[in-house]
Amino acid sequence: MSADHPRRAAERLNGVRGMNDVLPVDEALWQRFEDAVADAMRAYGYRRIRTPIVEHTRLFVRSIGEVTDIVEKEMYSFVDALNGENLTLRPENTAGVVRATIEHNLLYEGPQRLWYAGPMFRHERPQKGRYRQFHQVGAEALGFAGPDADAEVILLCQRLWDELGIVNARLELNSLGQSDERRAHREALIAYFEANADRLDADAARRLHGNPLRILDTKNPAMQSLVEGAPRLSEFLGGESRAHFERLQGLLRAQNLPYRINPRLVRGLDYYNLTVFEWVADVGGAPLTICGGGRYDPLIAMLGGRDAPACGFALGVERVLAMLREQDEADAAETHCNVYVVHHGDATLDAALTAAERLRDAGVDVILHCGGGSFKSQFRKADASGAQLALILGVDELARGEASLKWLRSGTQEEAASASRQESVTLERIVERVLEAMTDED
Ligand code: HAM
Repeated sequence: MSADHPRRAAERLNGVRGMNDVLPVDEALWQRFEDAVADAMRAYGYRRIRTPIVEHTRLFVRSIGEVTDIVEKEMYSFVDALNGENLTLRPENTAGVVRATIEHNLLYEGPQRLWYAGPMFRHERPQKGRYRQFHQVGAEALGFAGPDADAEVILLCQRLWDELGIVNARLELNSLGQSDERRAHREALIAYFEANADRLDADAARRLHGNPLRILDTKNPAMQSLVEGAPRLSEFLGGESRAHFERLQGLLRAQNLPYRINPRLVRGLDYYNLTVFEWVADVGGAPLTICGGGRYDPLIAMLGGRDAPACGFALGVERVLAMLREQDEADAAETHCNVYVVHHGDATLDAALTAAERLRDAGVDVILHCGGGSFKSQFRKADASGAQLALILGVDELARGEASLKWLRSGTQEEAASASRQESVTLERIVERVLEAMTDED
């Protein structure tokens, strides 16, 4: 750059707020999670479906419901400039899966067990565990009416937690009954809230006649005692709804799966009936819903398909990964690298490259230090890399046809004892000695 043209820093472009990059340091964790998901889905006979990220806006308005937070204020909707269509980045994928099931007549082949994974979009206020682009893994059991299917999707979740080593996820259950039962409850709720109109906040007043059930979900502390005293849906459930819910609970108890009935659990989407559930876990010391789902028998017919029952769930991948990270931080940070090659810059680069290539030929994962720097700073990087061994190529040693191996990791006591170990090795024996050292470590 000449003095006449001083370098002007180009404007730095950042990603969109609430939409995150997944960096290589997290790849091992994502992979472990995705493998566990694929195993669990296979174990229950679920087959993967991939639907588009963009759908017609009216699909979500009709399924999730017009008077919901998602549809009212969180959807990324836009008009396609080329043909004027109203489109939306999917805020969830139950609607998309049901749409695809109807469009491709999948239910004519019999009931379907389907699963999906991918990004979802909601314009929420970003905070820990809440993003504008986030990922869900979900499963949908379409065409099954009985509580056996509800039990199955819940057991699937539990198996996934077990597989991932998540021990503190708690299951909360409720039954929303059928629409006529909810209607009776809704009327009773409206009457109750109308009688207490002076105690409603603005949000509640607005929802009173549109969706009074959502008032029960309020986070406003000033409304809690009012909500506590409101008529409960369970008092309005008929015999069949009660029997469905009781049978589900019996099935879960028989499998020793603990749960808590939460009569306030209403979920934020309108398509549910009968069973609803959430898995709650402490992430960073605060309770967070890592997974939600339930039965949505009316949805398939609402979207133009034949009348067929269904249930399912979706989990928030970032939230589950945050738990995993907390549970085994050390593991998650680890790169899969066996040997870190430390060397003396240009004078030793040829030998370092050759040694690294020969090690890789033998199946050893190697990071070759690039960019120079003192031995001290290279060793710091070697330690941080998670490698078991450093291969050191110094000018003097190289002149003697030798290199050094240094044991790096200091996790267990035994490893700590060997961490300071260093030995010389002839260039010809590098691969052989590294392989021996790696077998010893196993
Ligand atoms: P949902 O409760 O809206 O249900 O979302 C499911 C899960 O996605 C939540 O429990 C949470 O872990 C995660 N999640 C939701 N919003 C965000 C966000 N902004 N940032 C990070 N994670 C988030 C559904 O979406 C239904 N489709 C579930 C279902 C499937 N019901 C039946 N089948």
